[in-house]
Amino acid sequence: MKNVKTFEKMKKDNQKIVMVTAYDYPSGKHVQESNVDIILVGDSLGMVVLGYEDTLKVTIEDILHHTKAARRGADDTFIVADMPFMTYNLSLEQTKKNAALLITEGGANAVKLEGGKQSRLEAIRAIVDCEIPVVAHLGLTPQSINAFGGYRVQGKKEVEFNEILIQAKEIEKAGAFMLVLEGIPEKLGKKISETLSIPTIGIGAGKFTDGQVLVYHDILGMADFKPKFVKNYAQLNKDIPNNIKEFVKEVKDSKFPTEENIYNPIK
Ligand code: KIV
Repeated sequence: MKNVKTFEKMKKDNQKIVMVTAYDYPSGKHVQESNVDIILVGDSLGMVVLGYEDTLKVTIEDILHHTKAARRGADDTFIVADMPFMTYNLSLEQTKKNAALLITEGGANAVKLEGGKQSRLEAIRAIVDCEIPVVAHLGLTPQSINAFGGYRVQGKKEVEFNEILIQAKEIEKAGAFMLVLEGIPEKLGKKISETLSIPTIGIGAGKFTDGQVLVYHDILGMADFKPKFVKNYAQLNKDIPNNIKEFVKEVKDSKFPTEENIYNPIK
């Protein structure tokens, strides 16, 4: 299984790192079979699996449940489990307890948390101090949508650009081994990736980051909404109902089951 040292070396060797989300046994299996470097059990599961409007209602129990399932499908892939909204904000004790749960019970290899403010740096330091690898996440961090006033690209203004760059450097100093950059101008993605020695993984951060991450459902065309940074490699939102409709029609028309699907068919 790849590990934190592998990812460090991949950056040094200019080898792109690929991260894809997975949330259950089949998606974990598909992603592992696709030779993806890292699985992220993202809190995006709130939207793409649980049908919430945003990620804010996802609980630690949700992530734990889905991390266990993804691990059963992907026994040989490095898994990062997302820490949901308000599960690393109340106290360092709460933060360490939740991070540990995702590792010991969930089977994850690392945890991810959003933001770069002072309190987040403390959270990163506390988790790293427990020997748990941390992935940080900056830019358009979805857990901050209410504070941002919606899903807006971050770092366009010079002051924001510099603030995110400073936070990225502080995150590296705090001990995170990887940084996800979401919804920022390509110039900022490039600058941060060149400045840090830890790998950066982009989603809507341009082509100069050390790797890219996409949501499983977005790759397969299964999500309801397609942001600019997404490329659909399939159209399962159409194909799945079309296949099920075919089954419905065959049953209605008495065309299913046929002999090959029947035990001891009547001749
Ligand atoms: O929750 C998630 O899937 C994420 C990625 C979009 C980076 O945080």
